[in-house]
Amino acid sequence: MHWQLSAKVNWTLDILGRRADGFHQLRSWFVALEWGDVLDFEPTNSDSSLKVKGPYADGVPTDSSNLLCQAEDLWRQAGGVAPGLNWVLEKQVPAGAGLGGGSSNAAAALRALQSMASVPLADQDCARLAVRLGSDVDFFYQGGTAELRTGRGEILLGSTEPAPFWLVLALPGLHVATPEVYAALAAEHWTESEGKQSADSCPFPFPEQPGINDLELAARDLVPALQEVGQALNEYARFTMSGSGSTFFHACADSDSAAQLAGYIQHLVPAVIVTQPRKREVAWCAS
Ligand code: C5P
Repeated sequence: MHWQLSAKVNWTLDILGRRADGFHQLRSWFVALEWGDVLDFEPTNSDSSLKVKGPYADGVPTDSSNLLCQAEDLWRQAGGVAPGLNWVLEKQVPAGAGLGGGSSNAAAALRALQSMASVPLADQDCARLAVRLGSDVDFFYQGGTAELRTGRGEILLGSTEPAPFWLVLALPGLHVATPEVYAALAAEHWTESEGKQSADSCPFPFPEQPGINDLELAARDLVPALQEVGQALNEYARFTMSGSGSTFFHACADSDSAAQLAGYIQHLVPAVIVTQPRKREVAWCAS
């Protein structure tokens, strides 16, 4: 099987506070992208193996520390039965970029195992594994396009199909460590009673333009090079950071202005990507 995966950007990212379990309660519009990693997998008579290739393969582990392998290990430990799989992962999305690359890999691995299983897990059990694997994994696992999420990112508050737009992603080639950014934020304590929110009401409609990312200032303080890139990009257009960084993005109404902006900024960062919110069917739903 050959699956094109999606990366994501956080169109908005509000951090509501630090919870007793050490995680931060957030509220964010996630947007899945047409662009992302590519995953191939085939059954084998032997144990599973992982090969990593592509522009961002360097430094990506191929052992049990890879989130994809962790997903497989958890799935088998939970009782799923499937043949060994030869995974080939083409890394188009760098790690530590705030684009959910590793999370998308883990979500796809769970879906792949379910599709190849002689004994699959119950849907809700597999979804629980997604949440255990990482805060962004459930978003990819569920396969939505634009979703408002809260909790650590696992609670769906609303979804929409935004009007078409083009995204210019500026990838500064900096690896930002998510836990360090959250720690640098020194957020106020958050308790459940402050933020009770019903999934029936969605009082935060999808904004026409990307909103504030509450992690951006902390990330810029922590990584001075990020501050420099952010400032340089903002000379051309208002760029917003995705997740805990390091990627910045800007939304354009049409492909020509996106291509033009990409040309203007390409001397500032090692890689610029022009893409759109995901339009195609999610691989594991395709017939
Ligand atoms: O869940 P994930 O593996 O993406 O989280 C990595 C780290 O980022 C966590 O261990 C935690 O330190 C921090 N984090 C957080 N609050 C979130 C998501 C992540 O504090 N909502």
